[in-house]
Amino acid sequence: GITRHFQFDIKLQNVTRLCSTKSMVTVNGKFPGPIIKVREGDRVVVKVVNHVSNNVSFHWHGIRQLQTGWADGPAYITQCPIQTGQAYVYNFTIVGQRGTLWWHAHVSWMRATLYGPLIILPNHNATYPFSKPYKQVPIIFGEWWKANTEAVIKQALQSGAGPNVSDAYTINGFPGPFYNCSSKGETFKLKVKPGKTYLLRLINAALNDDLFFSIANHTFTIVEADALYIKPFETDILLITPGQTTNVLLKTKPQIFAVATTFLMAARPYFTGQGTIDNSTVIGILEYETLSSSRSSSSNTSIKNLPIPTLPPINGTSFVANFTSKFRSLANSQFPINVPEKVDKHFLFTVGLGSNPCPKNQTCQGPNGTKFSASMNNISFTLPTTSILQSYFLKKSDGIYTPDFPNFPTMPFNYTGNPPNNTNVSNGTKVVVLPFNTTVEVVLQGTSILGAESHPLHLHGYNFFVVGQGFGNFDPAKDPVNYNLVDPVERNTVAVPSGGWVAIRFRADNPGVWFMHCHFEVHLSWGLKMAWIVLDGELPNQKLFPPPTDLPKC
Ligand code: C2O
Repeated sequence: GITRHFQFDIKLQNVTRLCSTKSMVTVNGKFPGPIIKVREGDRVVVKVVNHVSNNVSFHWHGIRQLQTGWADGPAYITQCPIQTGQAYVYNFTIVGQRGTLWWHAHVSWMRATLYGPLIILPNHNATYPFSKPYKQVPIIFGEWWKANTEAVIKQALQSGAGPNVSDAYTINGFPGPFYNCSSKGETFKLKVKPGKTYLLRLINAALNDDLFFSIANHTFTIVEADALYIKPFETDILLITPGQTTNVLLKTKPQIFAVATTFLMAARPYFTGQGTIDNSTVIGILEYETLSSSRSSSSNTSIKNLPIPTLPPINGTSFVANFTSKFRSLANSQFPINVPEKVDKHFLFTVGLGSNPCPKNQTCQGPNGTKFSASMNNISFTLPTTSILQSYFLKKSDGIYTPDFPNFPTMPFNYTGNPPNNTNVSNGTKVVVLPFNTTVEVVLQGTSILGAESHPLHLHGYNFFVVGQGFGNFDPAKDPVNYNLVDPVERNTVAVPSGGWVAIRFRADNPGVWFMHCHFEVHLSWGLKMAWIVLDGELPNQKLFPPPTDLPKC
C-alpha cells in the first residue's frame, strides 16, 4: 500500500436547498463532504483543521483501526473533540478490508452536514466475486434541515421532548422534485448507458431514519453489506439503516433508446416508533443516454408524471424481516469466514427507550412530564468530560468511567410486553472490560418501553456475525438451536428488529476502547450507547499503539 494524504478544512459554507439558504459547517466547503478513495493496504492520513466555533471529531465508520484506536474518532470515547483553531491528524492503515464505508463527524449532531463516502478499492491483484462493473457510483442518503441541527438537539435535550424532524431526505445532497420549492438543479441524476452493469455504493447517512430505496422498473443484485461480500440476491426494493452501506449491481436495460428514457428512484423511511417523523420521499433520476443528446434533459413537470417506484408501507416490518433474512456471507474458499463457535462470554443487552425524572425547577415536555431517554440494560450512558481511551491508556484513576456495565439486565422483565413492567433508567458511564481474544456473543434485545422500535446498532472497531434473530423475547433455551454458524452475514451495523432481538458474535482481537450505540442520532443523544474496553494481548502486535502527540485535550 501507499500513504494517501487528505486535508479536511472545517469551515462554514452557504448552501441553498428548497428556497432556503443555510450557513452550514462543511468539510472543504462541500455538502455532502468529499469522497475518500483509497486501496486496501493503504495508509490514510487525514489532517483535520477546525475553523468553526463548533467542536468536531471524525469517525471512519467500519474501519477496524487495528491497534490505532486513537484514530477512531467518537468524542469523549477515544479522543477529546478538536476545538476551534485546533488540528488533529487521523492516521490509520486499511488492513484486510475493501468495499464501501463512510466517514462522519462524531460529536453531538455535527454529522448532519459532515459526512461522505470512504471507498476502499480491492488490491490490484484481487478479483471481485462478481463481474467487473462498467462504472461505480456512490449514492449517499442524508437529510436536509432548514433549522440548525445543533439548536434542534439542544432544545430537545432541555425540554425532554422528542426533537424536531428534518425538512427533506436527500440523495447525494439533493432533495428532488417532490418537495416544495425544489429547483431543477436540486435533483440527483444518474446518467447511464444501456446494457451495462453499474455498481451503486449506497450509504445511509441520514440522522434518524431507516430508508427504503427502489428504482422504477429496475432490479438490484445485492453483493456487499458493510464492506463485506455476501451471497448475491436480487430485489426490487432494499432497506438501509443509518450507518449501513450496501453495494448493489444495477443492470441497465439493453435497448438503445431513440429518445430520453427516464426512470425515478425513490427513498422514504421505514418507521415503527411512535413519535413524529418526516415521511416524505426523496426522488432521483435514472436517465438513459440517447442518440440525440439535445432531447435528453427532462423538465421538473415531466418528471412529476413518471411512475414512482413502489415502496413498502412506512411500518413495513414484514418486508424488513424477509429482506434482512436474505443476507448471507459469501463464506467460500476465496472469502472464508471465521465465526466463533465456542463463546467465552455471553451478554444480553436490552435496547430501547425510557424516561428520566424531570429535574426540579424545570418543566419537561417528554412522556408524562418526564424527559425522554434511551438505554441499554436500563442504563443511559453519559459521556465523560475527557476520553475513556486516554483515561484507560494512561492508567488514570480519575473515575470518569466504571467497569461495571451489567452482562445481563439486573432486573429481567417481559421486554416486549405491552406495557413492559420495568421503565426505570439510571445514568452512568459504565463499560465492559474484555481480555484480549475473548469470543463474545451479545443478544441485543429490543424493548417496548415507550413503544417498540427498530434500532440500528453499530459496533466500532469490529465486524460481527449476525447468528440469529427473532421477534418477542429471546429464549436462551430454544433460540440458539437455530443459529446460523455456517454463513451468517458479517457487518458493523445491524437492525435490532422492532419488538425482537438479534444475536451477534465477534472475537475481541482489537485492543482499545470501542463504542457501541444506536445509529439514530436522537437515541444516541438520549443515551442508547455503551463502550467495551478490550485489553492488550501478550504479543507486541496485539497492543494498542501509544497516542499521537497532537491528540486534542479537553
Ligand atoms: Cu457511524 Cu459511532 O458511528
